[in-house]
Amino acid sequence: MPRKAELVVLGGQVITPKGSTAVCGGDMKELTVFEQGWVACADGQIIGIGEMGELEDRVAVTTATTVVDAAGKVVAPGLVDPHTHLVFGGSREDEFYLRAQGADYMEIMAAGGGILSSVKATREASLEELVERGLQHLDWMLSQGVTTVECKSGYGLDLETEIKQLRAVQILNERHPIEVVPTFMGAHAFPPEYRGREEEFVDLIIDGMLPEIARLNLAEYCDVFCEKGVFSVEQARRIMTSARELGFKLRLHADEMTDLGGAELAGELQAASADHLLKVSDRGLAALQGAGVMPILLPATAFVLKKPYAPARKMLNRGLPLALATDFNPGSAPVPSMLLVLSLACLYLSLTPEEALNGATINAAVSLGRSERLGSLAVGKQADLVVFGVKHYRQIPYYVGANLVETVIIRGEIVYEAQ
Ligand code: NIG
Ligand code: FE
Repeated sequence: MPRKAELVVLGGQVITPKGSTAVCGGDMKELTVFEQGWVACADGQIIGIGEMGELEDRVAVTTATTVVDAAGKVVAPGLVDPHTHLVFGGSREDEFYLRAQGADYMEIMAAGGGILSSVKATREASLEELVERGLQHLDWMLSQGVTTVECKSGYGLDLETEIKQLRAVQILNERHPIEVVPTFMGAHAFPPEYRGREEEFVDLIIDGMLPEIARLNLAEYCDVFCEKGVFSVEQARRIMTSARELGFKLRLHADEMTDLGGAELAGELQAASADHLLKVSDRGLAALQGAGVMPILLPATAFVLKKPYAPARKMLNRGLPLALATDFNPGSAPVPSMLLVLSLACLYLSLTPEEALNGATINAAVSLGRSERLGSLAVGKQADLVVFGVKHYRQIPYYVGANLVETVIIRGEIVYEAQ
């Protein structure tokens, strides 16, 4: 007896990455495409996928089955956004307009603005305010086809506020269908009260913050902003080594504004990901490749900061994989849209739509250690699907700035429908 479907998506162009492991180099050009496809779900999982003619033999569609008509549309895995800072207080539109007139991001930060102005606002915000804002941000993301996101703390820079941010993430996971993967990023900037005592702040992270965050089980990953004028390679190494000993997995903001050797450090520590990489050197790329680190590119940040983009084609030519993320945050990337990221990736990283879609699904899921469950459509995987109101998947990045998402399904349930 074929298994009973609780929900089927019928009749559209169904696309998926091949397999559940990292897609590298030239293989990123490949997607599996069912031109007239279907996907069936039960118990939150995919129980069948194929071309229309084979449906009846494979699953039972009954009067109790929810049918999503996707004829003439595109069906894809839910998008995975593996790098965001989506829980924060306040906003920084003033700085956005200053930068639009030519002010520099790192200079604004050195003058006490930038990240530090979000730190002030986040310290002042209540837990409930952070949750309310977080829910709004997740709603924006869901309406753009995102079903899983990573979220970093790092606008507290004291234990109490870092915990408040990570508790907000816990509550978001209870209240919103999107899965939010928590990362502790106490090493995001030096707080004003530690000016001139930077090493003491590194000690505080290692001795005071990391053990407590681990004890409370509030984060799966630890991330550090390794950058000139922020955390040095040596400081980042100390923090990340301690984090690893406490059981955290590692991510790293690497070689964003300067080629400091962040990618080399990510390789040395076999981090799950090295992110940004606008300025990565050849040595850095070799280190990533040797260590199986997922490069995560954030073209919306280069776009907003008006900086040269990361060398994506060079990475793919070397046989590296890459993943894409928004970097959604109140400063360098107030951009919650993975759809815009797909367009920017095609335009400015020179990716093909297939490469961009692999980067925003399976490779993003690999970087979050969730590719056995998420990031592609296959029997047994979690039923996270998006229906786009276009005829061909190549139109997804092409209609720049249009929201093409019609329906989002998470764990086999419809959680969003466009009005
Ligand atoms: O990934 N580079 C450091 N952190 C963020 C920016 C955070 C902010 O500007 O508030 C980033 O770009
Ligand atoms: Fe970031």
